[in-house]
Amino acid sequence: MKIARFSRIGFILAASGSAVGLGNIWKFPYIAGANGGGAFVLVYLITVLAIGFSVMIAEMLIGYLGRKDGVSSFETLAPTQKSKWKYGGFMGVAGLLIMTFYSVVIGWIFYYVVLSVTALPSSVAEAEAVFTTMLKEDIVTQIFYHTLSFLLITAVLLRGIKGGIEKLNIVLMPLLVVIIGGMFLYATTLNAFSQAVAFMFVPDWSKLTSTAMVTAVGHAFFTLSLGMGAILTYAASLPKSPNLVRSSLIVVAMDTGIALLAGLMLFTFLFEYGSEPSQGPGLVFISLPAVFYEMGSLGTFLSLIFFLALAFAGLTSAVSLTEPMVQYFIDRFAWSRFKAAVTMGGFFYLVGIVTLLSNTTQFGELLTFGSKNFFDWIDYITASIMLPLGGLVMAIFVGFTIEKSRVEAALKAELGFLFNIWYYGLRYLIPIALVIVMLHQLGILTL
Ligand code: PHE
Repeated sequence: MKIARFSRIGFILAASGSAVGLGNIWKFPYIAGANGGGAFVLVYLITVLAIGFSVMIAEMLIGYLGRKDGVSSFETLAPTQKSKWKYGGFMGVAGLLIMTFYSVVIGWIFYYVVLSVTALPSSVAEAEAVFTTMLKEDIVTQIFYHTLSFLLITAVLLRGIKGGIEKLNIVLMPLLVVIIGGMFLYATTLNAFSQAVAFMFVPDWSKLTSTAMVTAVGHAFFTLSLGMGAILTYAASLPKSPNLVRSSLIVVAMDTGIALLAGLMLFTFLFEYGSEPSQGPGLVFISLPAVFYEMGSLGTFLSLIFFLALAFAGLTSAVSLTEPMVQYFIDRFAWSRFKAAVTMGGFFYLVGIVTLLSNTTQFGELLTFGSKNFFDWIDYITASIMLPLGGLVMAIFVGFTIEKSRVEAALKAELGFLFNIWYYGLRYLIPIALVIVMLHQLGILTL
């Protein structure tokens, strides 16, 4: 069977499409807002460069050399103890778990695309009521849009790497960049722009708690799609002579660029209309629509294209969250793509309903365990534990297990004298940093 591979540009767009997601436009602004802005942004940027970029190269390398789904790639590349290392590839499960809330949030976004043109809430109080009613009471609406999201994502996955994933990204990624870029340019003309710049880039160290630092590290993994095999699985379909380092750099730059542009744009709008930056997950669903309403008909237009861009960002990431497990069942069990895509889609769809119900008044109590409901548990376990753990395993695997000569052969030409810095960073510094982060997350270590 001939395997359809990405074109070079297709790969760059798909990997960037994976990275640029709800994490950049929905999550980053609100966690930056909640953690005081500047200092948090700085820690996030340092993590992205010092840890994220290195792990990105490592993860791409595993996929490129392994050429198969995550589990098989780990297995083939381990010189000994193959059966043990194959567990390194099981992090794809994290992607399916993430999908159980990711698809629900994409559903909310679809709903807001519709609201933009039908009924933008006219004040923050009303916007809050709209969002809370949807979240807590309106099970039918949420299930409807979650279903839509599931159908779209599964339809793309059914068409495979070339005809589905590559096409989706080639169309949606440029649109996304144009929309966010255009809205950013508009934001620069408003008075509050300088206030937004100050909020995002002038660090107030007193606001930087250890939890904020650890959140920044976890978010760097989430936003770059690292640690669960999304990048790995895409890289398995790379064409020959792929420039892994340059590709990683482009993806990291795209991801960080969009997060910063989206953040600056959002905070400018919020400050311009006197809203607070620290409102949590409702930031883009509550404060922002109210601001758009204030702007009149321009606002309606901005709201529409903003939520469309957010939906595009979400969809291109969603396919990359599901594809690793789809690929796994195709490679390991010779399932047809149809069977694999429908089964994986069906999984996140059904569990997604439980996730969705855990936010509602009716079922919330039933689906709350200890301090968090099911939705928040999944978010916490995946982003704060599973992804950094996956990244740790990949760093150790590339640093110690794959023969150094193979790693060198693939990267030395591009990295030059930086190779050793990257390699020893991957072996020692990154694992130590990640272990500290995870111990902190688990409450074992307080910084
Ligand atoms: N990077 C995506 C985002 O920022 C989420 C994601 C995580 C995608 C892990 C794939 C793998 O929203």
